[in-house]
Amino acid sequence: MDNQALEARVNEHYGKEGLLERILTAASDEGLRLDHCQSSDFSAVSEFHIGGRKSTIELAKMAQLSEGDKVLDVGCGLGGPARTLVEEFGVFVDGIDLTSEFCAVANELTRITGLSEGAKFSQGNALNLNCEPGSYDVVWTQQSCMNIEDKRQMFAEVNRVLKPGGAYVFQEVLAGVEDAVIKFPVPWAKEANMSYLWDEEKIKNSILKLNMVPHIWKNATEQYLDEYRILAAKTADVSNTPVMGVHLMLGGQAGVMRRNVVSNLSQGLIAIYQGVFKKEK
Ligand SMILES: C[S@@+](CC[C@H](N)C(=O)[O-])C[C@H]1O[C@@H](n2cnc3c(N)ncnc32)[C@H](O)[C@@H]1O
Repeated sequence: MDNQALEARVNEHYGKEGLLERILTAASDEGLRLDHCQSSDFSAVSEFHIGGRKSTIELAKMAQLSEGDKVLDVGCGLGGPARTLVEEFGVFVDGIDLTSEFCAVANELTRITGLSEGAKFSQGNALNLNCEPGSYDVVWTQQSCMNIEDKRQMFAEVNRVLKPGGAYVFQEVLAGVEDAVIKFPVPWAKEANMSYLWDEEKIKNSILKLNMVPHIWKNATEQYLDEYRILAAKTADVSNTPVMGVHLMLGGQAGVMRRNVVSNLSQGLIAIYQGVFKKEK
């Protein structure tokens, strides 16, 4: 698929007009005052990956982020992970995402939570990063690669923009077995035609080919599955849907999408991997 077609398809799947209004209405329904909001108040919708804010913090600790690090979050979504990293680790984050509406909402939620000095967001494509070579201490992708067919090109771009000695930090949904046939819809795709999952060996070998050194590589499925199962049941319970949540983005299919993730994970058809790779000095 060419880049234009990919961009149109990703924007059509994730970008739903009026998202900011829905999030702000949910905040108000929860009794939040916008002039007193914290980034965690929006985590239920803006940390759009398994493990939520908790897994962002755990991943950053594994990667040993240092205060002042310059981080590029590729596929940043609504900027939940970026704001958490700014707040908890004192880093500076540039976020890019192919879904233009997500970038606009990310900038506004960051302004509301008083973190604009630390994080800013713009539209961009992981396959063609608009960044200088060697300009980041850390490149971060957190469940951003599932819609990307040409992952080798994305990893090459990650490697290009990292400083020597910099870290590529990764939490992704992988195929549990080669050519696994998974149940759809899932949060990243309604159908198989925009889901590209590679298995562990294929992903790891593609990153290692760039001469990046693995520091951490682990299957984190068991760590997050039980909590995610509870969250999926809550999302699917239409009589009691949480006010703030991914249904604001994904609409009425959010519950079934999350349930399908649980089913795919439980059967070993998909798995959650976390990794930290260092670019050679
Ligand atoms: C499941 S969301 C995860 C968002 C965010 N990383 C988080 O954890 O909250 C996947 C994101 O990847 C973005 N994405 C998909 N393909 C992309 C590409 N080629 N370049 C940049 N972003 C992309 C989507 O727009 C979406 O925001």
